[in-house]
Amino acid sequence: MAIPVFIDCDPGHDDMMAIMLALANPAVHLLGISTVAGNQTGERTCRNAARVLTLVGETGVPLFRGADGPLCRPLVTAGDIHGDSGLDGAALPEPLVPVSPVPGAQGLAETIMGHGEAVTLIPTGPLTNVALALRGWPQLREHIREIVLMGGGVQDSNVTPVAEFNIYVDPEAAAAVLQAGIPLRVVTVDVTNRAIMDYQQIASLASGGPVSRVVAGLMQFFARANHNAFGIPGAPIHDALTVAAVIDPTVITTRSCNVVVETRGEYTRGCTVVDRYGVTGRPPNADVTFDVDRDRFIALMMEALKTLDVRVQDLQTGVEQ
Ligand code: RIB
Ligand code: CA
Repeated sequence: MAIPVFIDCDPGHDDMMAIMLALANPAVHLLGISTVAGNQTGERTCRNAARVLTLVGETGVPLFRGADGPLCRPLVTAGDIHGDSGLDGAALPEPLVPVSPVPGAQGLAETIMGHGEAVTLIPTGPLTNVALALRGWPQLREHIREIVLMGGGVQDSNVTPVAEFNIYVDPEAAAAVLQAGIPLRVVTVDVTNRAIMDYQQIASLASGGPVSRVVAGLMQFFARANHNAFGIPGAPIHDALTVAAVIDPTVITTRSCNVVVETRGEYTRGCTVVDRYGVTGRPPNADVTFDVDRDRFIALMMEALKTLDVRVQDLQTGVEQ
């Protein structure tokens, strides 16, 4: 039986890969997508999600546009990594799927609460929409099976020496989610920086089908940006690892830890303080990643792209008949 999931994201190259994996793998059923400002503005991240759905010919997944900025701070974006569009590196189709008039947090809450069984919520951007949904619909938490989020770090970081981007952008929202008491897996940048599609794997996509060929260009751009910024030897597909962890929990190794977020520090805003040795006495509130099975993860990703290639080719063939 497929696990029902809802993705809240800020596409973003790796958010796109998370959406593609969720659409392609039969172990999960993607109920809906909400977008949030993060990698780029709220308008661009929503447009990018619609372009990705159009690229893969998906018309049955509702799309909601969420917050255009953090709960109480100015927006910080990541054009240096994802480009001016938020998905630079290849020509994506003009968006043909509709964006719901329902605001993102409401769409997230109502889709999850309206589903017949508990839903796995997968946030892969700043947690603004999730915090707003939990605040506006208190009964939402009863309908969430678990939250599997990409964010934070144990020792690694990216946007500052001590903070990871999703948490840094909206630390107050992250703190609210961490304190919500909902079963939580935190997929940290320590392991997602090792969840890399390497240059050879990216190059192999260029000779693939209609989806893989576009992804090849996008991953080349993303890999180059990550190499320039962090010296990473390939494309770290941060967000897709959350979906992979729902499909196959063994793809990550976690430890139960207490995690809190710094919201007041002058130099430490957005730092996730992970008590991996239990020295604080604070009770564990999350399962935090400490390792990744990269080969298994990339195999799932490559399999998903092949599935989407066939799906689009069938749609194209169907159109021509
Ligand atoms: O730090 C990596 C995270 O920030 C990823 O989710 C990426 O898409 C950006 O949102
Ligand atoms: Ca993201």
